Amino acid sequence: MSKKIQICMGSSCFARGNNKNLQAIMRYIQDNKLEAELEVTGLRCCNQCANGPNITIEGIEYHNVDSGTLIDILDKTFKE
Ligand code: FES
Repeated sequence: MSKKIQICMGSSCFARGNNKNLQAIMRYIQDNKLEAELEVTGLRCCNQCANGPNITIEGIEYHNVDSGTLIDILDKTFKE
């Protein structure tokens, strides 16, 4: 069963960092050869723009995600 990353692609989250976060996720998947295990989906705005950029990873919501904390979260979730 694949693991899930859901990234908000609403205009606020996208402009505030999820544009770069999406690239970082795709690069992370490639670098760690996780293509077969991970499913990345884009979400519409979920009305939590003030807390964005928002990303849900394996059912846990993360807010104010920048590319530094994103890599820490991905390592913690998929490498440990
Ligand atoms: S754009 Fe992401 S919650 Fe609104």
